[in-house]
Amino acid sequence: MSVPCDLIIYNVNIAPMKEETANFINNAAIGITEGKVTYIGDSENAPAQPKSKIDGNGQWLLPGFIDCHTHLVHAGNRSNEFDLRLQGVSYEEIAKQGGGINSTVSATRDASEALLLDSAIKKTKRLLEEGVTCIEIKSGYGLDFDTECKMLRVAKSIEKHLPVNITTTYLGAHALPPEYSNRADDYIDFVCETMIPHIAKENLADAVDVFCESIGFSPTQCQRVFTAAQQHGLQIKAHVEQLSDLKGAVLACEYKAHSVDHLEYLDPSDVSALKENNTVAVIIPGAFYYLNEKRKPPVDALRQHRIPMAVATDLNPGTSPIASLLTSANMASVLFGLTPYESLLGMTKHAAQALGLSNKGQLFVGADADFSLWGIDHPADLVHSINYHRPTNIWVAGQNVR
Ligand code: NIG
Ligand code: FE
Repeated sequence: MSVPCDLIIYNVNIAPMKEETANFINNAAIGITEGKVTYIGDSENAPAQPKSKIDGNGQWLLPGFIDCHTHLVHAGNRSNEFDLRLQGVSYEEIAKQGGGINSTVSATRDASEALLLDSAIKKTKRLLEEGVTCIEIKSGYGLDFDTECKMLRVAKSIEKHLPVNITTTYLGAHALPPEYSNRADDYIDFVCETMIPHIAKENLADAVDVFCESIGFSPTQCQRVFTAAQQHGLQIKAHVEQLSDLKGAVLACEYKAHSVDHLEYLDPSDVSALKENNTVAVIIPGAFYYLNEKRKPPVDALRQHRIPMAVATDLNPGTSPIASLLTSANMASVLFGLTPYESLLGMTKHAAQALGLSNKGQLFVGADADFSLWGIDHPADLVHSINYHRPTNIWVAGQNVR
């Protein structure tokens, strides 16, 4: 009996990204039916009578890449701060003077929904050119009720314009908005009692995030946000240990965070908290690079404890204006010493895990048929070079979108 199959792509080398160490299938085929992978294996045993067939000409096939940490919905421009930082003014100092995140907050509050969408689409297109098929987008540049909701609506609506899956994260505890100056606890009341219940009820976000830092919010304030998120069934993520060690990662892990992100100042002895709670370490080399940070995340300890490490762009107008996940992967390897395969896992399997998406980031029977074809000699080529490669074809939910 022949198994029904919409499409077979044969004569490909497949990097399924299921295993923690490199494991590839050469001279392989992949079958897809109704948006799912229904066959993966050698070409000879592939379903014999698919509705259509494509010769992959010996190219490499990898899961669609996932950028699991971005702030790509925003307005305004902060290249003036780049100039200031090059003159020696620190990121913290700029923030204390009312620049930094709050500068983008004021531009984003003023921007229309149409303008925000237009600018977000341009940045999203740059990510998609490199085979990204799923993106997490945070709010956090509105901080008031209307602008936070506007950002989350804009983020989700990108799916209607481009072939990509979007997950959204409410980052109300990103910075203290000017109207709450010296009243951080009152602002956290608003985040926990007004925003999170509304966001959960209206299904505006999948997760809640915080910026646990001296220029962000204290561990006690973040803990209140985690409690509210948990009560409303939202996933938890956290910007922690980016500029100092406030033990935010350990705290977020106690709340079963899906991911803790940045981690330059994470104490190696705290890494076990991630293991115990199945939390992903999201490594963000772009912000490290732009802030000319010297301290690196404890990659050796993370590796020893077998903590899944994801790699993300953190695409944002201040600390990481990088619309290229492959460049971030290259930086993760060059700056932090991830092997090329670890960096690839960081954009696939581990990025999916950071978002709680079990059907993405790996290719197996039953997975979402999101993948791309590359004319490369080896998957490591994608991490080794910068701006050399683009996929020749991309499929999202089984549809050939390029
Ligand atoms: O991930 N650390 C806090 N949030 C962003 C920066 C946002 C900004 O500077 O606009 C980050 O680095
Ligand atoms: Fe961020």
